[in-house]
Amino acid sequence: MNRIVNIYPNLETLSQTAAEMFIRIGNEAIQKRGQFTVALAGGSTPKSLYQLLASERFKDKLDWEKVFFFFGDERKVSPDDAESNFKMANENLFEQLKLSAQNIFRWETELKNAEKIAEKYEETVKDFFNLPANGFPGFDLILLGMGDDGHTASLFPFTEALNETEKIAVANYVEKLQTTRLTLTFPAINNATNIIFLVSGANKAEILREVLEGDFQTKKFPSQKINPENGNVFWLIETNAAQKLSKY
Ligand code: 6PG
Repeated sequence: MNRIVNIYPNLETLSQTAAEMFIRIGNEAIQKRGQFTVALAGGSTPKSLYQLLASERFKDKLDWEKVFFFFGDERKVSPDDAESNFKMANENLFEQLKLSAQNIFRWETELKNAEKIAEKYEETVKDFFNLPANGFPGFDLILLGMGDDGHTASLFPFTEALNETEKIAVANYVEKLQTTRLTLTFPAINNATNIIFLVSGANKAEILREVLEGDFQTKKFPSQKINPENGNVFWLIETNAAQKLSKY
């Protein structure tokens, strides 16, 4: 695993670099394999990146018909709910680029229960990547955020999903949120070629120090377990989030 950590003066310059990396990785993937598979992050930090990718500055730099979008995690809400990660990406990226529905694979949260939603997403990913029974998808890029408790995707501290070694997609009950979330698993994420963490805000500073410079405690700090053996992990960190780091 190759880990690169870069610090940016503000979210705007962080998002600018992330957009340039997205386009570079995307064009490389399309050149090599004729398509670019990417799993998007939810939350609020990636919003400005999605807006940038859809802007005049970037929208013509990638053949979007060859880009296939997935989601690293999702909330168990309808796709038009304010909490939906799909909704945020749809409004700020997909609709702006007028993307075809064939290029977008969201968690089907309208299904009756969380386990069914996860099973269906597992099938969707397996079909798209044409995986064998115990195979894992090789996303060209996975975008991740990190919560102020060290979670990433919906892999929260001390939750069941942290122990999953076989499935690609699971439902994960999160006690502190009193809700069930939907998430890709560590083996699915760690099989990616490139992972980009987008981390911004002073509220992340303490946990980021623990994750990047503290003891290895992956149950307590799940983001520490993002280690693709054959991939690159890029940490793009805004300066306030980086303020407690000593090694970077
Ligand atoms: C989600 C995300 C989650 C997010 C972090 C950071 O569904 O909320 O996938 O893992 O990336 O909570 O969120 P912010 O970027 O909003 O701080």
